[in-house]
Amino acid sequence: MVIVEICVGSACYVKGSNQVVASLKQMIKDHHWEDKVTLKGSFCMGMCNQGLGVRVAGKQLTGLHLGNAVEILEKEISEVVS
Ligand code: FES
Repeated sequence: MVIVEICVGSACYVKGSNQVVASLKQMIKDHHWEDKVTLKGSFCMGMCNQGLGVRVAGKQLTGLHLGNAVEILEKEISEVVS
């Protein structure tokens, strides 16, 4: 099971983490990843100045924002889901 952690701390919330969560839920459905990917909320990851706080299978991603998060996450998750 791949765990995708999304920061729901205040700085990331303001940057749209809740919208990314909604997009991720749809992505999981579209790819039929329901049995392979688990979404988890996280408190501040201490990465507030490096874009949205997101980890995929423990890997901290940086530079994510609303405009690129879906594309990057789709690629990152595809690489670890088997
Ligand atoms: S609030 Fe998200 S990393 Fe700090």
